[in-house]
Amino acid sequence: MEQISEATRNILGLQLPTDPRWVDLAAISIEAILTDHAWCEQKAATACISLIQRYTRKVKLVEDLAPIVTEEWGHFRLVLQEIRKRAFVLGNQRRDEYVHKLIAFQQKGGEEEGRLLDQLLTMALMEARSCERLKRVSEGLGDEEHVNC
Ligand SMILES: [Fe+2]
Repeated sequence: MEQISEATRNILGLQLPTDPRWVDLAAISIEAILTDHAWCEQKAATACISLIQRYTRKVKLVEDLAPIVTEEWGHFRLVLQEIRKRAFVLGNQRRDEYVHKLIAFQQKGGEEEGRLLDQLLTMALMEARSCERLKRVSEGLGDEEHVNC
């Protein structure tokens, strides 16, 4: 299996790279990738809003997450611009098996702090993987402006 570069591992904390077949540009639809990515950005913003709603009394958490909501929604809008620029259409959300399996792996009971930490770590992993994959796509396209996590 291909090793992930030291630089990527250090930045993203990922231990294994995405399967190179994932970014077989001849076999994938850029419109589908962009649609998928737009919805990932929306989910990131929504997940932060949900945490703010659930942990309102955690002042630092709320203050840290509030600007991330704005940032992630900004990413959604940027991806939407890319979709429009290419005369594509934002497609429907699809069920993401990878995300559902990660969520199923999260701690369900126990202390609130443990559940929160588990949720934050899961979100960080999804963000890192999404960033890695988008980087791979943009490298394949030779179009750096697509790198947007
Ligand atoms: Fe993002």
